[in-house]
Amino acid sequence: MTAFELTRLLPGDHFAQALRADVRHGLTAPAKSLPPKWFYDKRGSELFEDITRLPEYYPTRAERAILTARATEIAQATKARTLVELGSGSSEKTRLLLDALRTLGTLDTYVPVDVSESALREAGHALAADYPELAVHGVVSDFTASLALPRAVHGPRLVAFLGGTLGNLLPVERAGFLSALRAELSHGDALLLGTDLVKDPAVLVAAYDDAAGVTAEFNKNVLNVLDRELQAGFDPDDFDHVALWDAEQEWIEMRLRSRRAQRVPIPALGLTVEFAAGEELRTEVSAKFRRERVAEELHAAGFALRHWWTDPEGRFGLSLAEPV
Ligand code: AVJ
Repeated sequence: MTAFELTRLLPGDHFAQALRADVRHGLTAPAKSLPPKWFYDKRGSELFEDITRLPEYYPTRAERAILTARATEIAQATKARTLVELGSGSSEKTRLLLDALRTLGTLDTYVPVDVSESALREAGHALAADYPELAVHGVVSDFTASLALPRAVHGPRLVAFLGGTLGNLLPVERAGFLSALRAELSHGDALLLGTDLVKDPAVLVAAYDDAAGVTAEFNKNVLNVLDRELQAGFDPDDFDHVALWDAEQEWIEMRLRSRRAQRVPIPALGLTVEFAAGEELRTEVSAKFRRERVAEELHAAGFALRHWWTDPEGRFGLSLAEPV
């Protein structure tokens, strides 16, 4: 059995420094915001797994339905030797791809990449046990900071970026990310991209504001991260969870709304942040797509869209693209 191996590609203090920079920048700006990657500590990763099982949160089930129907086709089209997955989380849906590529017999290495070391370790050990012939090489990294992959990631490579996580990037960030990813790939490699689709705003808002309050807890968890990592003085109960649909940008926004006027110390940054009563802090953008937009953005980055699949209800899109 090939043991699970874990690599940290970024400098040891990358995450500590990046968190500090993001918090200082995001909480001193006139319109407060934080990047969504800071949700995913151990608790946040667990809460996200809970979200994927909520009745209102359809993207995971919709994408799984597409993967179930198309995994064989994806394996045959890519003949991947290495599967790289960006934002792999629990790697749960990935098993559909691993199974199909195992049946085809081309795959020898799986490289899950995630910001969450706890999620990587848990998934990596389970996968190494269930796929003994596969080398599982986890990489703790932040794909918004660096797309460098470990050495010896042999082609043909299939890079999977699932779950709709591309939608967490702003349009200008998406363009930069897709171009940087294209630069890492060669002829014969492929990109498998999952994107949530524009639909009835009521369905979208419910998916980000569930009745059981799990998404609210997930959203507020970023404040716990700041309290723990920066000794900040946030009380998550002083904030309300907000999810809204921006029809112009075609994205969902999650925000935290201050219930009262308050001053929150962040000693690690030598900073005190003031919130007015009702003031909102943006914690996530989750863009929703149409097929044409996906094809355009891929094209602009040097990819050609080769296959486009949706679930039967047309809620979620899965694209298979290749570098041109
Ligand atoms: C993991 C980024 C795909 O945007 O739908 C779930 C995260 N945020 N509920 C998404 C999330 C609120 C999720 N992604």
